[in-house]
Amino acid sequence: MKDVQRIAIVDPSDITREPLRNLLLGVESVWLEAECSRYEFFIDVARQSCPDAVVITLDADHHKALQLIQQLSAEFPHMPILAVSARGDGQSILQALRAGAKEFLTAPVVLEELLLALQRLRANRGGDTSNTMNGATRSESLVASVVGSKGGVGCTSIAVNLSVDMAQDTNYNVALVDLDLALGDADVALDLIPDYTLADVAMNVDRLDMQFLRRSLCKHDSGLSLLPHPVQMEDIALIQDEHLGRVVGLLRASYSHLVFDLSKRFAPTDWTAMRMSDVVILVAQLELTSIRNVVRILHTMDKEDGLGDKVKVVMNRVGADDSDITLEKAQETIGKPIYWQVPNDYHVMLEARNTGVPLLTHAPNSDVHQSILGLANALCGKAPTEPKKQRRGFFSFS
Ligand SMILES: Nc1ncnc2c1ncn2[C@@H]1O[C@H](COP(=O)(O)OP(=O)(O)OP(=O)(O)O)[C@@H](O)[C@H]1O
Ligand SMILES: [Mg+2]
Repeated sequence: MKDVQRIAIVDPSDITREPLRNLLLGVESVWLEAECSRYEFFIDVARQSCPDAVVITLDADHHKALQLIQQLSAEFPHMPILAVSARGDGQSILQALRAGAKEFLTAPVVLEELLLALQRLRANRGGDTSNTMNGATRSESLVASVVGSKGGVGCTSIAVNLSVDMAQDTNYNVALVDLDLALGDADVALDLIPDYTLADVAMNVDRLDMQFLRRSLCKHDSGLSLLPHPVQMEDIALIQDEHLGRVVGLLRASYSHLVFDLSKRFAPTDWTAMRMSDVVILVAQLELTSIRNVVRILHTMDKEDGLGDKVKVVMNRVGADDSDITLEKAQETIGKPIYWQVPNDYHVMLEARNTGVPLLTHAPNSDVHQSILGLANALCGKAPTEPKKQRRGFFSFS
């Protein structure tokens, strides 16, 4: 997936800032993180917005602009700075570069040159993995899709609780996106009443700005943000596959961890989400139809380069009385290790769902919660948490 480059610009002149802004907004891989019309305020804007690169136009006041470049490069030595000026003479270019700019473009900026300059800035920054300034490193990121091998298999329960558990890490900024566009119920599971949904975001995809995107997600007390499915069924048609690609790209610029609760329709939007994910959690149960579908789904995914390898099979409701297949038999049939097992706990799960409260609050010490917490930690590359009681099978990788 093409990563979004988050840019902040400063230009006191509306006349030159406007076209530059429009040019940047037209670049698919660019997210306009912040826009500033005063050189004096920009350092604070940069501190707060932590962009991947900044664009500084010099012409309103060359002296102040060069001072700002110096200040920025002293405070944030890894911050790529692109200077823009109508004065393209050798002296001006040299001054900007000496102050600390990495690239220089002559105004009015031409799209092709802008793209090349941004590409160079990105390439030069390639080795620098710290994504924020002040030396603070941004926590690792993850995009995970949760998909089911049949209806009611536990996708929403796992997606919701997984994301709530991930959101407890204060270094993470976690969002759950309900891609079960018709019948999703992540909002119910979290007892949230959304003001905006995925349909609003999709409708405004061409003129999305950071504020609008952030406003469109509802915040849960746990720290998790939710982008719910459309309220009106007829709005589902507004969400095109290509919109989702753009929305996910932009969400990745704002959130370190994204979890998608997919539909069981295997619609184009579901496939796009899986392709854009680092991990696809395929939820199954020890039951014939579910296991048969796991085999079919894996078979289809294996045909697409790289997709099958992302799949991790999670067996839900292990220990349920109505299981008609053993774990060993299931694993043998699937031909792939079962990555995680979540125990059956009908009452806890149902109560949590009916009260719209995540397991973290409702039954933090329950085996089922401890197992999902363990899954969250494993997916985030963290050391496993000590289970409350050692019950073999539920907390182990296979
Ligand atoms: N580990 C579990 N133990 C017991 N019950 C569970 C467990 N996981 C989920 N459930 C229950 O199974 C039911 C279906 O769960 P859930 O809605 O999460 O599945 P789903 O795959 O999202 O369903 P849908 O196909 O409708 O989207 C719910 O009543 C939930 O409480
Ligand atoms: Mg569901």
